[in-house]
Amino acid sequence: MLEVSNIGNLMLHNLLPSRRDFPADDPIFALNTEAQSRVAKGERIINATVGALLDDNGQIVILDTVMELWRELTPKEIAPYAPISGDPAYLTAMVQRYWPELAYFGTGCATPGGSGALALSVRNFLEPGQAILTLAPYWGPYDTIAQENGAHVETFPMPEPGHAIDALALMEKARNILERQGRLLIWLNDPCHNPTGRSTSPADRAAILEVLRELCHLGPITLLLDLAYLEYAADPAEVMAALQDYARFAVEGQVLVGASLSVSKTLTLYGARAGALVFPWTRDASLQAALAMSCRGIFSNAPRAPQSLVVRLAKDGKAQARLADEHRHWSEKLSSRAQALSGALRKEELPGVPWQGGFFVTLPAKNPTAVAGRLKDRGVFVVPIPQGLRVGLCGLSARDAPVFASAYKESL
Ligand SMILES: Cc1ncc(COP(=O)(O)O)c(C=O)c1O
Repeated sequence: MLEVSNIGNLMLHNLLPSRRDFPADDPIFALNTEAQSRVAKGERIINATVGALLDDNGQIVILDTVMELWRELTPKEIAPYAPISGDPAYLTAMVQRYWPELAYFGTGCATPGGSGALALSVRNFLEPGQAILTLAPYWGPYDTIAQENGAHVETFPMPEPGHAIDALALMEKARNILERQGRLLIWLNDPCHNPTGRSTSPADRAAILEVLRELCHLGPITLLLDLAYLEYAADPAEVMAALQDYARFAVEGQVLVGASLSVSKTLTLYGARAGALVFPWTRDASLQAALAMSCRGIFSNAPRAPQSLVVRLAKDGKAQARLADEHRHWSEKLSSRAQALSGALRKEELPGVPWQGGFFVTLPAKNPTAVAGRLKDRGVFVVPIPQGLRVGLCGLSARDAPVFASAYKESL
């Protein structure tokens, strides 16, 4: 019998040298696991690392309306393969959630979550070794998704609260990438940005789009809106206004505008792994064929059950109204948590933190890893990012805000 340790050594030779030095676990999931194991030992822990919405007792929120629809699904809505590019009715329903005026999804495919959509965008719009441009700070897995698809991430800065975007910095960065690689792919996680919890102002949006207009003669530009948190906004009207700005820009036709959509947060169906990569203002047979090829070659078909559920929801006005009420309830909950956190920070004589939407806010820290480490010693878990600390409002009850704020101040 071979010893297990020997098998381990054999494996190491099989694994490509370039793939031997990754961390064993995703850093955010690893922090979450550590927090949970300390809870299990009876410690009082504040866990603001998770990316799922929790109620004030730390239990995961699962939208009732969605689960009612899930229970109604028939075997044929669950078991058969979905079409390779996804059910067109599903894609259309996903697009109409944000652009109800559109009659059809345009060009697109169903993907395993928004992550799948982001991955497919790299495969189809960049050559190996090229750069994706995005706002900094950004959702950490962007690096992994880019890397696994042969690309890397470059950034332009999110403005500080109350300041205008640095359009010149964006112009310089985007021009540089276009001159270098002859094409540009931008992932814009707006509105309801992870991890800052903010959205671009109308003026910032106009400035970003103007830069793209000015540069599009240098090569094809693809603007991919990464829309993961739109149902959880302080002001839904602001979200709709942003979506309309992007739609108006898309129909100008100078830049290819698409969206990465997901049911993870939208329907609290994180584990169902459904999303979509769509180009709602484009009907292009070669783009459609390329996306189908990617689906077939990477994961075949995306899961059928969540697609069937979205189609059912689109036909059920009552369920839509109930779901809208649930979204409103949880958006108000996130809003009150953001206010509680700001209030507690101010009591500690620190600046408050603005929140416009999504599950997170970012707090400043000069040495984020060290501050996060000291917070951990005090039983408070947050995710260090290069620009500060990502704090999951989705897991931080208003009740815990004062303890959180005082631990944060002591840890700075
Ligand atoms: C900014 C952002 N984009 C995309 C996603 C993709 O999520 P999923 O693959 O679960 O749809 C997430 C999830 O946390 C996210 O935060």
